[in-house]
Amino acid sequence: MKIIENASLAKLNTFGVDAKARHLVIIDNEKELASFFAERAQSGNKLLILGGGSNILLLSSEIPLVLQYSKKGISTISVDSDTTTLEVSAGEIWDDVVAYAVSNNLGGIENLSLIPGTAGAAPIQNIGAYGQELCDVVSYIKYFSFTSKRIEIRQKAECGFGYRDSIFKKSLKNQVIITAIGLRLQNDPKPNLSYAPLHDRFKDRRTSPEISEIRDVIIDIRKTKLADPEEIGNGGSFFKNPVISPNKFEALKKEFPHVPSFPQENGIKVPAGWLIETAGWKGKRIGNVGSYRTQALVLVNYGGATGKEIIDFAEMIKTDVSAKFGIELEFEINVVEVG
Ligand code: EPU
Repeated sequence: MKIIENASLAKLNTFGVDAKARHLVIIDNEKELASFFAERAQSGNKLLILGGGSNILLLSSEIPLVLQYSKKGISTISVDSDTTTLEVSAGEIWDDVVAYAVSNNLGGIENLSLIPGTAGAAPIQNIGAYGQELCDVVSYIKYFSFTSKRIEIRQKAECGFGYRDSIFKKSLKNQVIITAIGLRLQNDPKPNLSYAPLHDRFKDRRTSPEISEIRDVIIDIRKTKLADPEEIGNGGSFFKNPVISPNKFEALKKEFPHVPSFPQENGIKVPAGWLIETAGWKGKRIGNVGSYRTQALVLVNYGGATGKEIIDFAEMIKTDVSAKFGIELEFEINVVEVG
């Protein structure tokens, strides 16, 4: 266990917001977790559980307790004729997990290549991209419960997975720390090329691409479109894509015949990036904050922005989109306000 007092969090969140942890505690195994929490009451809202810090916006300038579970490791739990189940420790870097799966020709997460963050954080927002979602391959999630002070296991059906959503964002928020995830991957990968730009890249091929080729293409698409947190502070998509009613969509389409849309079970999904761009915010900058030039949904920190400045910018976008389209955007990013 490592405890650092008054630690800067600037390098521990991809937005690069310079907040402080009064105590930063890095725990490397389940035994240490149990002993750390043995005499401690559940920490509730004084606590931030940090993974790779790639989907958070730090609004508080000082956080009493920041916990990171850093244990790494990938092991094969079981193999049957169709699938292989891997158990991945929470501290693994997500993209290393994808690279491992792809190099072993295990399918189901190749489209999730290059998503920043750790394996332990991945189920919290149910990461998704290019037609795949983490919950499609989750078998179970293991976590240390602050209430029972034991490791517990929850099967996929009990995790409340939805679009960028899970029970770990809701009733289990700050009640548990995820220690490992169980992934059930395909032994005979079935490429998912449902996402149009991905389909287009392989449309002239007669045979199905290898998952290693899909991974390379995804990495290429992400690098051209999305802001690299190593170069410019950001937390990926700042807003969720809203789902609107068919009536509302018809009205929108009358005014904007080219509005992109993705039918869902519960309505029509309209890309927030399109709404933000059409409202005139793409590439716009106010002070240290802006909407990224090639993907309006990504807000960026040009350097030195506080959490408050970023939220203020996001609120301006939200208000404007609401005024122009009558659609209420919701934050996809987790706003951290504790203390
Ligand atoms: N679009 C615009 N202008 C923009 C951005 C997008 O018009 O500035 C329109 C385009 O027409 C495009 C459509 O929006 O056809 C969809 O854009 P894109 O494929 O870039 O995806 P997205 O809906 O903006 C979602 C996820 C991303 C994920 C991509 C690819 C959410 C909130 N975001 O973005 O996830 O990588 O799909 O699957 O669902 C993240 O969660 O942090 C993230 C980056």
